[in-house]
Amino acid sequence: MRIAVTGATGVLGQEAVQALVSAGHEVTGITRRDSGIPIVEGRGASAIVADVFSTDDLTRAFRGHEVVLNTLAHVPVGGAGMRPLAWREDDRLHAEASVAIAKAAAEAGVHRLIQESSVYLYPDNGADWITEDQPLSVRNQAFRPRVKEMRAAVDFATAGRSAVILRLGQLFGRDPQTTHALKAVREGDPILLGKPESYVTLLHHSDAGRAFVAALRAGSGFYNVGGEPITRSRWAKDLATEAGARHSAKFYPEITQAIVGTRLEVQRRSLRVSSVRFMNETGWRPTVGPSTPGWSRR
Ligand SMILES: NC(=O)c1ccc[n+]([C@@H]2O[C@H](COP(=O)([O-])OP(=O)(O)OC[C@H]3O[C@@H](n4cnc5c(N)ncnc54)[C@H](OP(=O)(O)O)[C@@H]3O)[C@@H](O)[C@H]2O)c1
Repeated sequence: MRIAVTGATGVLGQEAVQALVSAGHEVTGITRRDSGIPIVEGRGASAIVADVFSTDDLTRAFRGHEVVLNTLAHVPVGGAGMRPLAWREDDRLHAEASVAIAKAAAEAGVHRLIQESSVYLYPDNGADWITEDQPLSVRNQAFRPRVKEMRAAVDFATAGRSAVILRLGQLFGRDPQTTHALKAVREGDPILLGKPESYVTLLHHSDAGRAFVAALRAGSGFYNVGGEPITRSRWAKDLATEAGARHSAKFYPEITQAIVGTRLEVQRRSLRVSSVRFMNETGWRPTVGPSTPGWSRR
């Protein structure tokens, strides 16, 4: 299939491009800068330079493609996420670029849109499982960009088109966020939010890449995508093992956790998310877990 990928030079985008090319697809990576071209070409795709906020630019770039995969994001790394202004670019990408992408894809005659989303939109559900039927917790205006993005994808799925919205677990692997966490563990600094007994649903980047390929086989709808959920105390041990540290990753004290703000509050939620629907629909399975040795170098 001919597939266009937005955010193709990013953490998720590069994994997606590589996995799609390996699966035999003809892939075009979209980047806003000339310096992005070799990154896309290095993963085996061709590159187009386009402005992701311009429906006209995107329509031209998407013509002749059957599928558009949107992986755009700009998530602040580490403590920077406590500052609301640090999320401005990420908000714009979800509220404006994602909407322009869905519109342009429809204009360009694309049949299928695959949209990256997040399990962080679910409410804290303690030790109970979360399926796609769980109502979201998105009342706070901080989540408005993600809601707009979802609506645009749902609107795309009319007139015989399909939209697959993937609610990805917390990414881990070689990325800046995890690298920052591993450094903190080595230095004995606190890095984890939430309670030790709360659940986290993780997703290795390489499994995320394969999930985008699997999404080509899924019917229109919302799907959770993550590995087997684990408690944060387990994650704290796995982080320490991978970092080569003697002590488990430390939790922030409750007094600090109380003031992290809306954006990072989602990382305190207990999210025991089931990906059974996606696995049954597509045959996708996670292959790298937090106890797989060497996961930060894969
Ligand atoms: N579910 C999750 O847990 C989750 C989800 C997403 C990200 N993250 C984490 O967050 C960290 C940062 O990753 P990221 O995906 O946010 O960043 P990223 O990988 O650096 O960004 C993705 C791509 O989006 C494009 N982009 C970024 N800002 C843009 C802007 N203002 N205008 C137009 N295009 C823009 C860039 O492409 P061009 O420059 O080539 O145009 C960039 O390569 C990583 O550690 C990642 O693992 C986690």
